[in-house]
Amino acid sequence: MATLISQSIFFFILLSFYTLTIIVAQDETGFVSSIDPKLLRKKQHASHFRFYWQDIVGGNNATSIPIIPPLPKFNNSFSAFGLVRIIDNALTVGPNLSSKLLGRAQGFYASTSQTELDFLMVMNFALFEGKYNGSTITILGRNVANNKVRELPVIGGSGVFRFAKGYAEASTYSFDPLSGDATIEYNVYVSHQI
Ligand SMILES: *[C@@H]1O[C@H](CO)[C@@H](O)[C@H](O)[C@H]1NC(C)=O
Ligand SMILES: *[C@@H]1O[C@H](CO)[C@@H](O)[C@H](O)[C@H]1NC(C)=O
Ligand SMILES: *[C@@H]1O[C@H](CO)[C@@H](O)[C@H](O)[C@H]1NC(C)=O
Ligand SMILES: *[C@@H]1O[C@H](CO)[C@@H](O)[C@H](O)[C@H]1NC(C)=O
Repeated sequence: MATLISQSIFFFILLSFYTLTIIVAQDETGFVSSIDPKLLRKKQHASHFRFYWQDIVGGNNATSIPIIPPLPKFNNSFSAFGLVRIIDNALTVGPNLSSKLLGRAQGFYASTSQTELDFLMVMNFALFEGKYNGSTITILGRNVANNKVRELPVIGGSGVFRFAKGYAEASTYSFDPLSGDATIEYNVYVSHQI
């Protein structure tokens, strides 16, 4: 019986030593450490932003440039499957392109449906105004262009939008079938810490 106990103690000590070695070894690599959990429990602010996203595809001042054409098989199809455009689109306070510039939508969108006009949107809303200047809201979502309202997830952000989450609702304000230019109203609902 006594041997059994001393054996267990021995193994316990051995195990503790082993665990300790692992912990110390992990610390020694120095690439990770805990953060104050309070950082994640800070008071959340919730904001609603509304602006207009200006997709200018033609002319000298285009801000939405095709970098990959549709797949040949979809050249003449409405869905333009495979098309990728890089954007640096103005975000304006009103629908008029010449209204106040609040920020820019930078990223790309890609046509990802073979049968309808659906886009994968990957973009940062870089804002310029007041305390938001220099901060970004990151969007990644599916945009079914013919739906009246499309919901896109806010997957994060930087600056005042650190730890952000939320969603955006996009709806087409105007579309010019001749030029291809579109003005989209974005309502962004986002919770953030600062
Ligand atoms: C491009 O922008 C300039 C300056 O804002 C403007 O004068 C010009 O008319 C624009 N050109 C086109 C094709 O929209
Ligand atoms: C599709 O368009 C590209 C460039 O616009 C062209 O090179 C290609 O030949 C076209 N393919 C078909 C099948 O029309
Ligand atoms: C947009 O604003 C400009 C300059 O303020 C104005 O000339 C133009 O008529 C406006 N366009 C529309 C569609 O309201
Ligand atoms: C935003 O910040 C940039 C760089 O810090 C500055 O040049 C610019 O004037 C600021 N814009 C506004 C609207 O405050």
